[in-house]
Amino acid sequence: MRYYIADLHFNHGNMNKNMDKRGFESAEAMNEYMIKQWNSKVKTGDEVVVLGDFCFGSGKVANKILARLRGKKYLIVGNHDRFLKDKEFEPEWFKWIEHYKELNDDNRKVILSHYPIFCYNGQYRKDVGDNPLVYMLYGHVHNTFDEYLLNDFIQRTRDYKRFERDKEYHNIPCNMINCFCQFSDYVPLSLDEWIALDKNRRRNMDIEDMIKTGQALDIDVSFGDGVMKVALPTEKYYRLKDAFAEQGLTIEEGLKRFVEWSVEKPVEFKAWVEECKKEGYFSEMELKAWT
Ligand SMILES: [Fe+2]
Repeated sequence: MRYYIADLHFNHGNMNKNMDKRGFESAEAMNEYMIKQWNSKVKTGDEVVVLGDFCFGSGKVANKILARLRGKKYLIVGNHDRFLKDKEFEPEWFKWIEHYKELNDDNRKVILSHYPIFCYNGQYRKDVGDNPLVYMLYGHVHNTFDEYLLNDFIQRTRDYKRFERDKEYHNIPCNMINCFCQFSDYVPLSLDEWIALDKNRRRNMDIEDMIKTGQALDIDVSFGDGVMKVALPTEKYYRLKDAFAEQGLTIEEGLKRFVEWSVEKPVEFKAWVEECKKEGYFSEMELKAWT
């Protein structure tokens, strides 16, 4: 069996405080947990492709960790894998070390890269039953705002239709899967397991997750007797803040105007919302907060 996993960041203590906020007491505690999770799944004969950012630290540290992980290991190089340049690192721990690879996985092709590839090789290939034949497995973005933007791209691409040789319109496949280790509780997963996990995760991916991970901001807007909560991705928050500032308003005051308008002139407000949707000014999600 072959498994995949990305961005383990062994020995990278900072992952507990910043970025992922993994919550382990120390880098050592995180290492021990991730080794346990890996070995709970991987048997000696299994293969594991690490999609980059395997370990932070010296060659010696990487050697020690690799000695404790079961299975045959393969590495797609990530931007944090500096141990590879350390003379003390023993590259034999990995069967191969590459920056990009295409492999066959149970009659499907997998495109492997640490960095997400938007238009990947074989993206349009499907079998006679319309099932995708190619998957792009990536890492790098962890569960950040970049992953949120990627998700937006994936959903939009899948919504488009393309006129094909059979003279019919078909949806554009976009089978990009973020194999980030936290999504699977640090357990390497097979392609089918990642497909299932990804489908479920993208379905449930909403602004609440973004707020939890600090990628979106929750704004309280006082209105009448109550308080309305508006959630905005950080990037959009700063854009709106600048736009309102030009009119001499804070973001809270600006959003309050929107709400007042929605109550005072509901018909015009609805028309404006529809216009925004059409023009793609705001996402469905943000408009939901205002309507
Ligand atoms: Fe990473």
